[in-house]
Amino acid sequence: MQTLEITKDIHWVGVLNTTLRAFDVVFQTRFGSTYNSYLIQADKPTLIDCVHEKFDREYLEKLRSLINLRDICYIVVNHTEMDHTGALGLLLKETPNAQILATKTASLFLKNILHAEVKGKMVEDGECISLGNKQLKFIHAPYWHWPDTMFTYLEEEHMLFSCDGFATHFCDERLFDDLVDDFAEDFRYYFEHVMGPYRKKILEAIEKIKNLDIRLIAPSHGPILRTDPWKYINAYKDWSTPRKDPHKKLILVLYASMYGNTKKMAEAVARGASTMTTEVKLLDAANVSPEFMRCEIESAEGILIGSSTINGDALMPLWNIMNIMFSVNVKLKKCATFGTYGWSGEATRLMEDRLKGLKLHIVQPPVKVLFTPTEEDLKRCSIFGYDFAQSLTTSSAT
Ligand code: FEO
Repeated sequence: MQTLEITKDIHWVGVLNTTLRAFDVVFQTRFGSTYNSYLIQADKPTLIDCVHEKFDREYLEKLRSLINLRDICYIVVNHTEMDHTGALGLLLKETPNAQILATKTASLFLKNILHAEVKGKMVEDGECISLGNKQLKFIHAPYWHWPDTMFTYLEEEHMLFSCDGFATHFCDERLFDDLVDDFAEDFRYYFEHVMGPYRKKILEAIEKIKNLDIRLIAPSHGPILRTDPWKYINAYKDWSTPRKDPHKKLILVLYASMYGNTKKMAEAVARGASTMTTEVKLLDAANVSPEFMRCEIESAEGILIGSSTINGDALMPLWNIMNIMFSVNVKLKKCATFGTYGWSGEATRLMEDRLKGLKLHIVQPPVKVLFTPTEEDLKRCSIFGYDFAQSLTTSSAT
């Protein structure tokens, strides 16, 4: 695939990575991905974003098929992660008249990525730059999903170049959202994994673009969104908006139980944790997907995790959920563990170790029950839950 005309003056000049199956090592890309870059053929020709280093020569060939590289005046770097800046080193050698436009943070990052002084300008939030017959407006959008990120809005064409925002790891060379196969599930997956930890920042940036007349979103990965761009913006807004009662603190009581004994403990813990100021969600880890849990964990102020011990370990569904916590903003959320055991009872300690590693704050020692809980044990569990709820009204850990 060579290049693709979006409008007479705007071309997609990105590359396809059909074989990619994991992005940043951990995020699944079951249909590959694309690194999108866009050429604006204005009086002052401008490139938006760049591509992965692996494709730098292919990328330059595409550009040369449309323009003399010496004519390029600006290269907009909306975000500096190397999937978008890897080819920049070679590109800059071929574009001696180009200036880089980026946020202050992105400009600092670029110095350490390229190890060279970069000829460019730091653009302010809301700043406009004329390309002669067209105009760009820059909207800072920090933590979409790095601190350096911004959007670029091309006013005459009503296009938002959103970099990783509204992107999808989905490789289909037809590129336009109305032509490619169904990518809804992958769009959501991308949001949850890449943007999910920054929901507050997502809402802040959507507030900034809500009055723009956006008719097309050109992200840096996957389909170009031209049929109903606001559908995607509103989806981000919806997924980022907190669901819980704003007056109550949310506690997740998450458990896995082999014979129902840890489940009984979890129910007693949940009863104790339900107070005037808390809302409790009791969830069986074996019946929820880790993906669903991401949103719940993000919303919760406190997390209580219970497991039976089997072969000296906690149960797998809980490990699966704790494994996705690295991509959720869990730092200093309060937590504690509980569980049943038969002889060794390592599950609670092992889960504590993992939670500490994730920088959650363990607020109280575990409650453990040998084999089956008695009425007295269930009272202990209820008190354990109550004490935990009380801890949420005290100041956070330092
Ligand atoms: Fe597509 Fe954050 O890089």
